Amino acid sequence: MNSNNEAENVELHLQEILLAASQHDLTTLRHLLRSYTFSNCKSVDVQDPETGYTPLHAAIAACEAEEDIEPATSATPRNGSSLEQVTNGAPATSGRSSQEKELMLRAQETVRCLLQNGAIWNQLDKNDETPGCIANRLGFQQLYELMVDAGVRAELLLNRLEGYEKLDDSEEDEVTGPADDRTNETSQSCDEPPQSNIVVPLETESNIAHYLSSALSISAERILDEDSNGVMMSWESEIMSQSANALLVAPNMKVMNIGFGMGIIDDQFQLHHNRPSSHHIVEAHPTVLADMKAKGWHEKTGVLVHDGRWQDILPKLVSEGQTFDAIYFDTYAESYSDFRDFFSEQVIGLLDPTGKFSFFNGLGADRQISYDVYQKVLEMDLFEAGFDVDWQELEVPKLTDEWEGVNRRYWNIEKYRLPRLAFRSTFYLPQPLVDQIPRRRSNNATSNILLTSSSEMSSTGAT
Ligand SMILES: C[S@@+](CC[C@H](N)C(=O)[O-])C[C@H]1O[C@@H](n2cnc3c(N)ncnc32)[C@H](O)[C@@H]1O
Repeated sequence: MNSNNEAENVELHLQEILLAASQHDLTTLRHLLRSYTFSNCKSVDVQDPETGYTPLHAAIAACEAEEDIEPATSATPRNGSSLEQVTNGAPATSGRSSQEKELMLRAQETVRCLLQNGAIWNQLDKNDETPGCIANRLGFQQLYELMVDAGVRAELLLNRLEGYEKLDDSEEDEVTGPADDRTNETSQSCDEPPQSNIVVPLETESNIAHYLSSALSISAERILDEDSNGVMMSWESEIMSQSANALLVAPNMKVMNIGFGMGIIDDQFQLHHNRPSSHHIVEAHPTVLADMKAKGWHEKTGVLVHDGRWQDILPKLVSEGQTFDAIYFDTYAESYSDFRDFFSEQVIGLLDPTGKFSFFNGLGADRQISYDVYQKVLEMDLFEAGFDVDWQELEVPKLTDEWEGVNRRYWNIEKYRLPRLAFRSTFYLPQPLVDQIPRRRSNNATSNILLTSSSEMSSTGAT
C-alpha cells in the first residue's frame, strides 16, 4: 500500500471512530476500537485534525441541541435549551423530553465505555477545551461529573505511582502531580506520545532551586519572576483578607505564615482586630527578604522572620517543640508533592491540636475542570493526613488588565474556594476506643491516623 492510501485509511478509520462516538453507537464503537490501530496514539484517543475532537469530545458535543450550536467562548454553562442545564446546582431535568433523556443516558454510557478503554480525560481540542470543559460549557452536569471523576482517578493513580520508577518519556502515563497554578502549563496533542496529564501543570520536580536564584521584580501591584510569571498579584488581596479572618478566630494567637510574597496576608494579620501576639514568617527568596527588611518587618514587635526554605526551617521548630494556633501556606514554584509533604509531615508537628490551617488554593485554577479535580484529590489527601476541610466560596474580581505583561494567566475561574482546615477530631469516640488507636508522631509518613483525645482537645495554648 502506498503512503497516500495509508494516510487515507488512517483518516477513514479515525472518522469512523469519531462518528460512532458521536452517534453513541456502542456496538460499532467497541468493534472499531478493537480493530483499528494507529501509529501515534491509541484508537480511543484519535483526534480529528480540524477540530481536535477525540471520541470523548465527539460523544459529549453531539448532545448539543442543533439550535444551541454557536462558537464556544464561555467557560460557564450558558442559558438556553441544552439537555441537562444546571439550575442552582441541580440539574433541571423536569422539562426534558424522553428523547432527550434517552440521548443523555446513551452519551453517559459512551463516555463510560471510552474511559474504560483508557481514553485520556484531559486532551485538548483545537478550541482549547477538554471533553469535560465542553460538558461544563453546555451545562451537561452528569457528563461533567463523569469527566471530573475520571480526572480524579487518573490523578490519584499518578500520585500513588510517585516514588516508583518513573517511565521513559517515550512511554505512556508519565508520572505527574498537580502544582500550584502560579507555575507553568503544558498542553499536548495526539501527535505526541500520550500522557495522562494534559492540561495541567506538569510540575513533578519543584522549580524552587531555579526560582530562589532568579531575579524578581517587585512593585506595589505584583511580583514577577525573571520569566515574567506572576509570583504574587494584588488582586488576591480579598482572598488573603478572608484567609486571615478564617485563621484569626481569637486575640493573641501564635501564628505562622509560610511565603511572604507581597506581605498581604502578613499585613492582614498585623491589622486584624484579633492581632496575633506572636507572628512567625518563613521566607526563602533573598530579594523578598531584602524587601521585608527595607519595610521593617524584622523589627516589628511580636514578629519573627525565618530566613530560609520551610523545608529547612520547620524541622528545627518542631525539634524545639514550637506549636502554632494557626498556619497559612502560600509558596511558589513548588510541586504538589512538596505541598503534600508539608501538610502530611510538618503541620502535624507544628499545629496545636485545636489549631487552624489554610493555604492558597490555586491548584488547577487555569480551568474549571482542573480546579474541580484537584479539589477532590486534595480532599482525599487531606483526609488521609488527618484533616477535616471545608471550603468557603469567594467571588474573584473580573481580571483583565491585571494580566498585562504577565507571561501566563494562572487564574481563569470565577470562584475561589478558600480551604479551612483543622485536625479531624476523634473526641466523639468512646475513650477506650481512642486509647487503642496508635498515636501518630510527627514525621511519621506511614501512619494515617491522627489522634486527638477529648482531654487533648481541651488543652489549648500558644507557647
Ligand atoms: C505567592 S507568594 C506569597 C504571597 C503571600 N501570601 C502574600 O499575601 O503576599 C510566595 C512566596 O513564597 C516564597 N517561597 C517559595 N518557596 C519557598 C520555600 N520553600 N520556603 C519559604 N518561602 C518560599 C516565595 O519567595 C514568595 O515570596
